[in-house]
Amino acid sequence: MFGDLTDIFSRHICLILTVFLSLLVCGLFIRNTDQEYTAFRLAIFLHNTSPNATEAPFNLVPHVDNIETANSFAVTNAFCSQYSRGVFAIFGLYDKRSVNTLTSFCGALHISLVTPSFPTEGEGQFTLQLRPSIRGALLSLLDHYDWSRFVFLYDTDRGYAILQAIMERAGQNGWQVSAICVESFNEAAYRRLLEDLDRRQERKYVIDLEPERLQSILEQAVSVGKHVKGYHYIIANLGFKDISLERFMHGGANVTGFQLVDFSKPIVIKLMQRWNKLDQREYPGSESPPKYTSSLTYDGVLVMAEAFRNLRRQKIDISRRGNAGDCLANPAAPWNQGIDMERTLKQVRIQGLTGNIQFDHYGRRVNYTMDVFELKSNGPRKIGYWNDIDKLVLVQNENSLSNDSSAMENRTVVVTTIMVMYLNDFPFFIVWALGDILGEVTLQL
Ligand SMILES: *[C@@H]1O[C@H](CO)[C@@H](O)[C@H](O)[C@H]1NC(C)=O
Ligand SMILES: *[C@@H]1O[C@H](CO)[C@@H](O)[C@H](O)[C@H]1NC(C)=O
Ligand SMILES: *[C@@H]1O[C@H](CO)[C@@H](O)[C@H](O)[C@H]1NC(C)=O
Ligand SMILES: *[C@@H]1O[C@H](CO)[C@@H](O)[C@H](O)[C@H]1NC(C)=O
Ligand SMILES: *[C@@H]1O[C@H](CO)[C@@H](O)[C@H](O)[C@H]1NC(C)=O
Repeated sequence: MFGDLTDIFSRHICLILTVFLSLLVCGLFIRNTDQEYTAFRLAIFLHNTSPNATEAPFNLVPHVDNIETANSFAVTNAFCSQYSRGVFAIFGLYDKRSVNTLTSFCGALHISLVTPSFPTEGEGQFTLQLRPSIRGALLSLLDHYDWSRFVFLYDTDRGYAILQAIMERAGQNGWQVSAICVESFNEAAYRRLLEDLDRRQERKYVIDLEPERLQSILEQAVSVGKHVKGYHYIIANLGFKDISLERFMHGGANVTGFQLVDFSKPIVIKLMQRWNKLDQREYPGSESPPKYTSSLTYDGVLVMAEAFRNLRRQKIDISRRGNAGDCLANPAAPWNQGIDMERTLKQVRIQGLTGNIQFDHYGRRVNYTMDVFELKSNGPRKIGYWNDIDKLVLVQNENSLSNDSSAMENRTVVVTTIMVMYLNDFPFFIVWALGDILGEVTLQL
């Protein structure tokens, strides 16, 4: 595949847009980001081979490069190298250690960053967040179930936005929330924690963890028998179907979660037909359906392609000529067309794998929908959906809403933070590796 693309590259270099895809590979956890990269390459391949010249009046050419760690020095170097090549926009994944470096460079130099990573809390003008916020949906669901006492398990890899939202609501409503950061827990610590909480009669959980930690704690819940009737887990991520819940299904615990990608939509069905034919050796991760982060990555390519189509339609000629120099120049010399690029990206409105893609002034997704699923004895069942306009809409009339508000008064808020470090068991908290994939996109305008 890359052979063909390199040909296109050498034949049609007119403008270069650099795509910067940084993948976090985290030691023993083996955070599988191969699949995101596969989705990225597939999106580019499908774009380039589209028979419809209206849809693909230019080719996209990826180019791969690597950096070793996510520290700000390495990220700065990678950014500066891309910047000096004359990028128009950057596509990238970040983690909590690289997010500030990346977004502040983008802000200072007016280079837009399109990202499927967790939403940043500030108002980064040049950041386009493909991943919608789960905050509203989670709070609606808690209201729906009328939970007033529960355990909130979290890590800080995606910032503190959800923790903050839960604690604010807990303060307002008098919820009793035990918030526990399990970032450095090992399997034994998970088991001990679950047993402790069980002794305290805690049976309701909201789990806001990175996928690997989530899977690990769910496995430990099974191993200590907390996957049976009487327990209820709400999983605070956008990929309910990415999680393997078979044991819970047989155990009988209630599990609820959110699903951003609707596999019954024509656009997803069509993509899946291609996806299922991919060769696993060339496209690692393609043996399982795309996770929501891979779908967001795929959509990121669609957004960038659409922005360039729109610029072309409007006959806006963009160029970095005279501005491809020193990223560390003081004072910073921002790209004078950076704002045009940013505006065009934010104005993109397309249908992607993750539904309607539309951004607000701050580059955050608006008008998006996620399905709400409950695990039943025969598998996940959609109970409704949440969108930022209609909020929670239940498709089945499960009259589980209670109108009893008297019990809500005078409850105390218990906030506990337990930090346990097991460094010997956790070399992967010390040894991190970041592989960055840097790519180029050639536009034939
Ligand atoms: C080509 O793409 C454009 C824009 O998406 C669409 O309007 C048109 O119908 C497509 N043509 C064909 C032949 O598929
Ligand atoms: C689990 O779901 C059932 C049916 O919706 C409900 O009756 C029960 O109370 C739930 N259990 C917990 C622990 O929330
Ligand atoms: C929301 O998205 C739908 C398409 O999914 C579109 O028809 C509708 O106009 C959008 N609403 C707003 C307020 O932009
Ligand atoms: C709760 O209150 C709403 C309106 O206040 C009412 O329509 C609904 O029937 C009530 N539900 C229950 C379970 O009492
Ligand atoms: C709540 O607490 C306040 C002050 O402690 C008290 O005056 C009030 O009667 C309490 N309300 C209920 C419903 O217990």
